[in-house]
Amino acid sequence: MRITDPKIVAKLAEFNVELQHAAALADLTSLGIGGTTDLLRVRQHEILPALLNLLDANDVPYRFIGGGSNLLVGDGELPWVVLQLVRPEPDVVVDGNYARVDAAADLGRMITFCAKNDLGGMEGLIGVPGTVGGALRMNAGAYGMQIGSYVREVKLYRAASRKLETLQGDQISFEYRHTSFAPDDMMLSVILELPSKPFKLILEGIRICNEKRRSSQPLGQKSAGCIFKNPPGASAGRMIDELGLKGLSVGDARVSDRHANFFVNAGHASAKDMLRLIGDVRERVRKNYGIELENEVVVWNA
Ligand code: EPU
Repeated sequence: MRITDPKIVAKLAEFNVELQHAAALADLTSLGIGGTTDLLRVRQHEILPALLNLLDANDVPYRFIGGGSNLLVGDGELPWVVLQLVRPEPDVVVDGNYARVDAAADLGRMITFCAKNDLGGMEGLIGVPGTVGGALRMNAGAYGMQIGSYVREVKLYRAASRKLETLQGDQISFEYRHTSFAPDDMMLSVILELPSKPFKLILEGIRICNEKRRSSQPLGQKSAGCIFKNPPGASAGRMIDELGLKGLSVGDARVSDRHANFFVNAGHASAKDMLRLIGDVRERVRKNYGIELENEVVVWNA
């Protein structure tokens, strides 16, 4: 989707929005898959309602992207523009046990910054790529913890009210890889309340999580993390492994040899390849276990 109307282009400049024509979304996603569209980089949260009114009034569909690490984007020319927040400086401010974090902050950087301020609790998420906003919207979790437990306040653009709003932690429900945010709400910033912990102890926790992750997940390869959610009481990775599907490929889309719930882009996989592989594995699990696996990865298919 291209924005060519000079009136819209002028308005974007007025809103201090950076317009990148024909951005390759493959470069913005950890899977390295995705077609092209115009990318709007937003520097000020306050202009979002006016910006989105402008896009709606001109029939320009849009989607929000964070770190692109849990996302499978369709191929070719995409029928919507993509909005991304520009990371401000500073993006994390610590005040006692509270960390005020911009949604565009890098998750790993935020965890280590808080650690240096003797604030822990988030060690399990070290090594998970993506932004804090992305982690928040899907309640990212690992090794027995989830980010939602630490959330005290969230600022967001609320699609329903078309306004910027502030929600308290108890107004949001955080479940396994799911939150009460609407799909088109845009996370802007969050206040986390984190337990005090000496830096050295947090580092030790980080080291252990890093080791576990390195030994069980294909970290050096292009992936979107786990493709499927774990069904209640079962492990998607174990079932796919038990069916002997590690290494199963469609084009360059491939079930990882290291962790069967990670599907990697081993070269130049297309979204079509990856979606066929996902469908094929889901079907085999359904036939053999009678379980319908649900995507964990978010799919933006044109
Ligand atoms: N297993 C296999 N073969 C495999 C993969 C796993 O037999 O190929 C077995 C393991 O040996 C273990 C069990 O399955 O007994 C569970 O595996 P693992 O500990 O790796 O955890 P998981 O359930 O596959 C979940 C999260 C991960 C998170 C890890 C660590 C989901 C869908 N996955 O994986 O999160 O990193 O626990 O806490 O909830 C993600 O969200 O993208 C993600 C990777």
